[in-house]
Parts: sequence; C-alpha cells; structure tokens
Amino acid sequence: MEKIGILTGGGDCPGLNSVIRAVERCALIENWQVLGFRHGWKGVIENEFIVLDSHIVSGILPKGGTILGTSRTNPTKNPGQMESVKKTFAKNELHALVAIGGEDTLGVALKLHQEGLPVVGVPKTIDNDLACTDYTFGFDTAINIATECIDRLHTTAESHNRVIVVEIMGRHAGWIALEAGLAGGADVILIPEVPINIDEVCALIKKRHARGKTFSIIAVAEGAKLSGHDVTQTDKLDAFGHVRLGGIGQEIADMVEKRTGFETRVTVLGHIQRGGTPTAFDRVLGTRFGVKAVELIKRKKFGEMVSLQGREIKSVKLAEALGAPKLVPMEYYELAKAFFG
Ligand code: F6P
Repeated sequence: MEKIGILTGGGDCPGLNSVIRAVERCALIENWQVLGFRHGWKGVIENEFIVLDSHIVSGILPKGGTILGTSRTNPTKNPGQMESVKKTFAKNELHALVAIGGEDTLGVALKLHQEGLPVVGVPKTIDNDLACTDYTFGFDTAINIATECIDRLHTTAESHNRVIVVEIMGRHAGWIALEAGLAGGADVILIPEVPINIDEVCALIKKRHARGKTFSIIAVAEGAKLSGHDVTQTDKLDAFGHVRLGGIGQEIADMVEKRTGFETRVTVLGHIQRGGTPTAFDRVLGTRFGVKAVELIKRKKFGEMVSLQGREIKSVKLAEALGAPKLVPMEYYELAKAFFG
C-alpha cells in the first residue's frame, strides 16, 4: 500500500479539517494510506504521526482548528532538521506529502520540492493574502465573525455615544478589515496597504458627528502602519522572522479621543476570528482543495499548489504563488472609502 503524508502548519484556520477529511477520503479510493503528521513540520522532523482512517475523519467537517495540531516550526533554519524531514520521507516510503499552510509552511514545501521531494501545497490563511488563488478557506468564516462583532459594537457604541475602534487580523493585507468593515458599515477602515493619516481619520469622525451622528466605528487591521511602523506586542520574532502584531487599535483610540474629544474604546477581536466552526463556503472550498491535492499527487504534479480561480479549482506553481502577497487593490479601497464618515 502506498503512503502519503499530510500536515497543517502556521496559524490554525476554520476549514482545515475539511481538507484533511477530503484527502483521506480520496486517498482511500486510491488505496493509499494517509499519515497525518502532528503539529506542522515539527511532526515531520520528529516522525510523529497518526494514521488517518474513516473513523478519525468522521464528523470533523464542522470542527474548527485542526485535528492534527499545528506549529510555526521552520526546518529550513536548521540543516539537521531538513535532514530529519528527508529521513522521515525515506523511512515511511512517502509517495507524497500534502502541506496545508500559508506563506511560511508553503515556503518550506517549496524548498523541499526544490530539493527533490514530492510535495503539493494547499493554501490556508484567514488573511486571504496568498497570491494565485481568489480565496483561501478560513477567510469567509473570519469575515462573518468580524462582521457580527462590528454589528454588536454598533449597538453599544450608539447607546453610549462612543467611538469604538475594532482591531481586526490581517498582517500584510487588510482583506478581513476591508470586507467585514464594508459588510458591517464601519465608518473608517484602515488597512496595511495604506499608511494611516490620523488627521484624516479624525476629520472624518468629526464631520460625521457634526451631521448629528453620536457614535462611530473604526475598523483597523492589525498590520496597518502608523508613521510607517508596525505596532507590535513584543520584540520577539517567530521562527519565520515575523513580529507579533497588536496594539494599533489602542494607539488609534488614544489619538482619536485626544484629538476629537469623543469618548473612545477599543475592542481587539484577536483569535475569536480564527476559532470555531467554519462557514459552508469554507467547508466546501477546503473539501474541493483536498480533492484537487490528491489529483495533483496522482498526476505527479509536485511543487504545485491548488487554487480557486473564479469558480474552478486549478493549480499553480508554488514558486509563483509565493512570489508576493495578494494585497487589497487600491480601487477596492477607494470603493470602501466612499462609505467612510
Ligand atoms: O496569518 C494569520 C494570522 O491570523 C495573522 O492575521 C496574525 O498576525 C497571526 O496569524 C497571528 O497568529 P498567532 O497569534 O497564532 O501567532
């Protein structure tokens, strides 16, 4: 019986379990055994896995997170760990590995592919910032959660005549802030792609209140830049060299309150956006991605990543997808700006 591996790396994301389930189901048809590596690349380095079967993947569609666990382990930083990854491939006679992750996890997959290992990628991130795919699963769930939160913040902001700044996830790209902000009717949306002009933000809020509104909602992506800088929680970097973002909401709130005189509060949505059950859209997208990943393995199209293009599931070279993040286009932000204030 041939064996394939699967792993989930990086931040968790609603919809991961639908990919795992689909890969197991399709592999069964091919009579392949699926080794589910634990905690991302860490499980491959340490050869820690569970053998997936119909019983294990049964009932996991509505479950958030990942049944395999995840981590931000980066074997490319350590030649010994890269060797261990290769040994795991050899020891288990892996026919292929499905790596489900964002830019970091898939960057490792690309490196392994370049070193001759049979790897295919499945794009995952709530941030929706991976290139060459219209959507990543998890994003739809995140925008629905964030929209509901903005709706809820509206009623309390209105009751207290307050400005509420809501800090939303989005490291390089402001997709979640933009779409949840649009859907929830935020009065200002701030994203990493556009430097924050605090004078403009305060002018918009003052103008809105001058026309009789007594409350406002400002949606800000955690990666939005103040004076060209990220606002971070700690100086420490993760294994892929990323800072831990957080705090931009409070900074904006302090400035808005000081400059406008309106009482201002901040709400950080944080991991609420990543937790819990996936939407139907994310379950279906994850399922279709999993089916396509097995098809790529069957066709020996290694070094490729599954992708959603329009309504079709296709594949692209991992190298192409990892070239640059998919940012919010300026014309889309301009559209949103028409609703500010
Ligand atoms: O990449 C997805 C993401 O949710 C980013 O928006 C965020 O910066 C990051 O993960 C935070 O992840 P963690 O707290 O797990 O390190």
